[in-house]
Amino acid sequence: RRKLGILISGRGSNMAALVEAARAPDCPFEVALVASDKPEAAGLAWAAEQGVATFAQSPKGMPKAEYEARIDAALRNAGVELIALAGYMRLLSPAFVERWAGRILNIHPSLLPKYKGLDTHARAIEARDAVAGCSVHLVTEELDAGTVLGQAEVPVHLGDTAEALAARVLVEEHRLYPRILAEFVRSMADTPLARVRSVALALPEAEEE
Ligand code: GAR
Repeated sequence: RRKLGILISGRGSNMAALVEAARAPDCPFEVALVASDKPEAAGLAWAAEQGVATFAQSPKGMPKAEYEARIDAALRNAGVELIALAGYMRLLSPAFVERWAGRILNIHPSLLPKYKGLDTHARAIEARDAVAGCSVHLVTEELDAGTVLGQAEVPVHLGDTAEALAARVLVEEHRLYPRILAEFVRSMADTPLARVRSVALALPEAEEE
């Protein structure tokens, strides 16, 4: 099973969905580490209670490169092979993204390429969209711009508030992320390593179970 590292900044409900999915015997990933830029993140305490290894590093009082080097070292020490961002509210540097090229996924609460960045639900309501949703995508240097791997849609109801819409989308996030991540890991494992390398999406060679 591929070792997954999850980065969070808060509640961690998408992280919890991934931890729960990884309990299935046929899940192709296991959660090796949950790391956060916020030591007080509720999700960290939940993960620790579940017996998942956790790591907290505040970026305060140090250069961004130093902060990211500490996160990177924690991920590597845990044997992490790919990273899932789950409500991680910080932009990763080009150097970090390059180090993990093709091995970082994110979930974003909009139907990308619509509404990159923040306040996605309020913007969908403001635009009178009939449909909203969420996207799982590969992380590149540019915010919310990497290849979309999967999406789920929900209806926008008349009179919806951003909170009501966010809650409806979140239900779909929790279903979409584990499914797309599992598909991604399986497709990587099935791809001959030489070909994977040539498209710069290399994962370390699959270990025998
Ligand atoms: C989720 O809705 C996620 O899609 C969003 O933050 C929420 C985190 O909730 N992510 C972003 O907006 C990323 N820019 P969670 O901590 O309960 O998973």
